[in-house]
Amino acid sequence: MSVQTTDRDKAVAAAIREISHIATLPEITLRIIELVEDPDSTANDLHKIIANDPALCSRILKVVNSAFYGLPGQIGSINRAIVLLGLNAVKNIAIAASLAKLFKGGSLTGTFNARDLWDHSIAVATGCKMVAENLKLGLTDEAFLAGLMHDIGIVVEIQYDRQKLIEVLGRCAPDADGNPGADMLTAETEIFAANHQDFGAALCEKWKFPKTFLAVTGNHHNPMDLPAERRTLPCIVYVADRLAGSIEGGFRMDLQSLDMSPEVLDELKLSRDALQNLCDTYPEALESVENVLT
Ligand SMILES: [Fe+2]
Ligand SMILES: [Fe+2]
Repeated sequence: MSVQTTDRDKAVAAAIREISHIATLPEITLRIIELVEDPDSTANDLHKIIANDPALCSRILKVVNSAFYGLPGQIGSINRAIVLLGLNAVKNIAIAASLAKLFKGGSLTGTFNARDLWDHSIAVATGCKMVAENLKLGLTDEAFLAGLMHDIGIVVEIQYDRQKLIEVLGRCAPDADGNPGADMLTAETEIFAANHQDFGAALCEKWKFPKTFLAVTGNHHNPMDLPAERRTLPCIVYVADRLAGSIEGGFRMDLQSLDMSPEVLDELKLSRDALQNLCDTYPEALESVENVLT
C-alpha cells in the first residue's frame, strides 16, 4: 500500500469516526433502507415505519403531489401513493425526504451555503431521473436517489472540518481576473488527504447503503474507471451533474468544465439529439421539483 493511500484511508476513517458523533442518518431512514434491501418487504411494512413520523409523512406527500410525478388529483395518504407510484418509488422518496436534514451547516463562504448543496443535489436528482427515463432502463427512482446522494462526501467535509472545506473552496474560487481556481478534487486531496468521493463512498458503506450508491458517491467524476457492470448509475449522475451545472447559480465547484466525455455518452447510448432534448426540457422539470424536498 502506498503512503498516499495510507494517508487517504486514515483521513477517511478519522472523518467517518468523527461525524458519527455528529451526523447520524435518522433511525427511520436506516429502517427504510433495510426495507429497500429486503425483497420480501411489503407496502404495509413501509407504511408502519413512515406512520410513526408525521413530518416525514407530510414531506413525502408533498413530493408525491408535486408536478414532477404528474399524478392526477391530490394524493392524501401514503398507502395511496404506494399504489400509484409503487413501493420502490415511495421508499426512495422517503429516504430523500429524510436526507434533507443532513444538508445543514449554514454559510461557509460568501458564495457557498450548505443549503446550496442540497439545491444542487435536487437539481442533479431531477436530471438523473430525466436521463434514466430517456434511456428507458427502469432505474428512475434509483437514479433520483443517486443524484441526491452523489455529493454527500461534501456534507462529511462540512461536518468533519468546515475550516478545511472553507480553505478548499477558497482555492477553487476564480481569482479577481476571472481565472479559474484549483480543481476541487485536487484541492481536497491536498487539504484533507482525501476527496469528497472518498468520504461519500465511506459514508455509504458505514450506512450500509446499497452497493450501487457507493459507486455513485465514489466515482461520479470518473465513472469509466468502474467495472462495466457498475457504470450505469454513476454515468447518469455524471451527465446530470453537468446539466445541473449549466443552470445559472447552481453549485458546480467540483466541475471545472461542463463538457461531457464522449465515452460516458457512448456508455449510456445517449445520443447528442437526446441530450439536447434533455437540456431543453430540464429547466422546466427542475422548476417543478425545486422547493418540494425542502
Ligand atoms: Fe462531486
Ligand atoms: Fe455534484
